[in-house]
Amino acid sequence: DRTLRELADAQGFRIGSGVEAWLIDGEQRYRDTSAAQFNSLTPGNEMKWGSVEPSRGQFNWSGADTIVATAQANGQLVYGHTLVWHSQLPSWFSNGGFSPEEVRTLMTDHIATTAGRYAGDIYAWDVVNEPFNEDGSMRSSIFYDNLGTGYIAEALRAARAADPEAKLYLNDYNIEGINAKSDAMYELARSLLEQGVPLDGIGLQSHLILGQVPADMQQNIQRFADLGLEVTITELDVRIQLPADQAELATQAEDYRKVVTACLNVDGCTGVTIWGITDAHSWIPDTFPGYGAALPYDENYAAKPAYQATHEAL
Ligand code: XIL
Repeated sequence: DRTLRELADAQGFRIGSGVEAWLIDGEQRYRDTSAAQFNSLTPGNEMKWGSVEPSRGQFNWSGADTIVATAQANGQLVYGHTLVWHSQLPSWFSNGGFSPEEVRTLMTDHIATTAGRYAGDIYAWDVVNEPFNEDGSMRSSIFYDNLGTGYIAEALRAARAADPEAKLYLNDYNIEGINAKSDAMYELARSLLEQGVPLDGIGLQSHLILGQVPADMQQNIQRFADLGLEVTITELDVRIQLPADQAELATQAEDYRKVVTACLNVDGCTGVTIWGITDAHSWIPDTFPGYGAALPYDENYAAKPAYQATHEAL
């Protein structure tokens, strides 16, 4: 039977996985499955600022290097995640008491260093992650609070300078359907493009709850594509209240099918990345207690109905 990546390759589509270096290093089945099934890898944590510069000026590239080298050895793309985000920042930066000018310089230096290190190796960067609140207002963060909305354009310009080949994305969650938050992303994207700011794509994280794929997801993807932007489903998972029964796993499979199909139906929606591989290692149970079983492989690496549905949709 053909793998997901063979099916995706045949149509120039990206099917990706969010992976972690410690699992690539530590688990044969994880390593084998990620290599066999996916043609794109996103580092789950390894490129975040807190990972790469835990102390000021002291860099740790080991996890990020592992994922880039693994992808290159396997003929996979690397989707870079993420340069500017309110979370998983190093404490020396968050708690440093920096002035707005210092925040600006530290942010653009971080982008230059990180995107510069991997320049030429990255398909796309999530340049800014999660800029919005649910009501569509700008999320408070060290970046927004010090620099205002302009930090987004500044970050995109710095990323373009550091790696002219990478596609530059804005990424957020709960923007899969048409709602106040995705409207805000749409308006931001439109206005950045109008101002000539480098922006190539919008990432829809797609951390979904069972049975809740928005009915207008394809329509929402289409409106971003109509701006001339690429769209990627960047962090797909579908969480279920545990324990998951067979009927729920069947519903989950339909959810995966709907998301992959919505993307494939829109020219300009160029890939789907699943946020992990196996239910044995997923961020869901830690972050949403009582929920899990969100990925296409179960805890023993057996393919679930969600895998079959993804395969069929491709
Ligand atoms: C998550 C990782 O999967 C976890 O290992 C980590 O503890 C927290 O972050 N949105 C994002 C991702 O953009 O970076 C998050 O990843 C999940 C939500």
